[in-house]
Amino acid sequence: MSTPRRIYMDYAAGKPVEPRVAEAMLPYAKSSWGNPSSLHTLGQEAKRALEEARGRIAELINAEKKENIIFTSGATESNNMAIKGVANRNKDRGTRIITSSVEHMSVVNSCKFLTTKGFEDVFLPVNQYGFVYSFVLRLFRKREHIFSLQIFHSLGLIIKAKRQYLNCIATN
Ligand SMILES: Cc1ncc(COP(=O)(O)O)c(C=O)c1O
Repeated sequence: MSTPRRIYMDYAAGKPVEPRVAEAMLPYAKSSWGNPSSLHTLGQEAKRALEEARGRIAELINAEKKENIIFTSGATESNNMAIKGVANRNKDRGTRIITSSVEHMSVVNSCKFLTTKGFEDVFLPVNQYGFVYSFVLRLFRKREHIFSLQIFHSLGLIIKAKRQYLNCIATN
């Protein structure tokens, strides 16, 4: 009996490491594996590599400065940090959290957690393609905090005009 062919269609949740990434990372798993906070040579070697990576990412996304790039263990930690951090830091500017009804649980749970701290959640419905209608977003005129990943471009423009924050979950 032949083995059934497996078709994997969940690259949005997990995928093999891109070979060029694996190749670039290998030296730091095998030889330069020091803790970048250590003062000894091995640690400082790792620190140099880390800072170089930070600089390259900052350049790639046109960040104001490389110190603004923060590495985390993954998207769940990033979402928690970004959503709770931005909301709390800007509580005096608004307490309404706007997101969509199809976000990852790490977004949903971070927003729900904030309701225990005096924030109000608005989960916007999506169309058959999973997109929030941009006109719905335009209805929100005040300075609410928006946490959504879709229609990145048009949402980006709205956010910029209103000096709001955009959480782009470009994971995987
Ligand atoms: C949109 C989104 N947010 C968060 C996560 C969680 O990522 P992690 O497993 O790195 O915490 C995923 C994982 O698939 C995701 O697709």
